[in-house]
Amino acid sequence: MKEDENPFVVSGRIKPEYFCDREQESARMMKLLCNGNNVVIRSERRMGKTGLIQYCFDQRQIADNYYTFFVDILHTTCLQELVYVLGRAVYEQTVPYGKKLTQRLVQALKSVNGRFGFDAATGLPSFNIALGDIDHPEFTLEEIFHYLQQADRPCIVAIDEFQQIAKYPEKNVEALLRGHIQKIDNCRFVFAGSERHLLGMMFDSAGRPFYKSADNISLDAIARDKYVAFMKEKFHERGKAIPTAIASEIYAMFEGHTYYVQRLLNEIFSNTAVGDACDEETVQYSLRSIIDGNDSFYREILSRTTLRQKSLLYAIAADGWASQITSAAFIKHHRLSTASSVQAAIKKLQEQDLVVEADRKYRVGDRFFGLWIKQYMI
Ligand SMILES: Nc1ncnc2c1ncn2[C@@H]1O[C@H](COP(=O)(O)OP(=O)(O)OP(=O)(O)O)[C@@H](O)[C@H]1O
Ligand SMILES: [Mg+2]
Repeated sequence: MKEDENPFVVSGRIKPEYFCDREQESARMMKLLCNGNNVVIRSERRMGKTGLIQYCFDQRQIADNYYTFFVDILHTTCLQELVYVLGRAVYEQTVPYGKKLTQRLVQALKSVNGRFGFDAATGLPSFNIALGDIDHPEFTLEEIFHYLQQADRPCIVAIDEFQQIAKYPEKNVEALLRGHIQKIDNCRFVFAGSERHLLGMMFDSAGRPFYKSADNISLDAIARDKYVAFMKEKFHERGKAIPTAIASEIYAMFEGHTYYVQRLLNEIFSNTAVGDACDEETVQYSLRSIIDGNDSFYREILSRTTLRQKSLLYAIAADGWASQITSAAFIKHHRLSTASSVQAAIKKLQEQDLVVEADRKYRVGDRFFGLWIKQYMI
């Protein structure tokens, strides 16, 4: 533990001592993987999917016995790009495992290995491949799987934002990947994603290649008592304090939604002096400085939103969780126009991730944005 480190991490890898709870989920995930199953992790955005995967990969049981690979495919839009990003991730994460394995990978990647460079400093091939070099993605994909199959340890490959492949223009990518995954017996897979609808179609509908091919882990908010205890402990370890009532209030403000709780705690922690306890004033000050810091970003979003979308967005922000948004009562109360215009507006707001839906209720996707709207726009 470094004295000047903020224990409430909001970006990058989280050290185990700063990782809150997820005991059951991580135990289940490791058990499934070690039993040879594939896993699909679903949750809302920013709830902790990526953090959970990395936490499990760092555990001795996994780190000592498996080669692990992690790839985020959110930005990919076609098979060629998927293969490029996967190949690159596998290469970069193989290098730390040593020269022998790296050379084995380069040899396996026959379709592109003429394009590897050589790094004189490390004596290793360097990854000089460009996206356009993947001219036969199906071959290269097969070679990556072949390498994983031949590795001298079992492998785990985590593909984050996996729903993305359902958006590719090529129609056969799911079947192609599923075919490889079914054949390989030296590698387990973790699929993660936040687009419930798309992931649901991929894994829960009979007839789709990935139907029932992975065990499900749903990630909800960390339990309140666990999170409050974690907050108190991390403040206490640094000679600071956070009263239980305030810790509970922070949890409740965001319904325990991990990123938002962590982000606010990070700010509060740095605004609390050693020897002090944070108080209500520190909470409000810290919250304001986060939302004010995003001011121009939020205004920019609003500048790209039509009046009708904006009115609906503000109405949803005002309610926190808005239900029956096309009802006469909701429309009248928030002075919106017609049910059909609300329907059109909500579709656009959801497409842009500005609003999220759960159980037919809607809220502003970015919870800080919701608070900013309440503070300044209504
Ligand atoms: N168990 C945890 N303890 C402490 N912080 C956590 C924990 N899980 C996640 N976080 C923090 O919460 C934030 C969101 O986590 P993460 O990026 O893992 O979520 P995600 O579900 O993958 O989000 P996205 O849908 O945006 O990919 C990050 O800032 C991360 O540092
Ligand atoms: Mg993620």
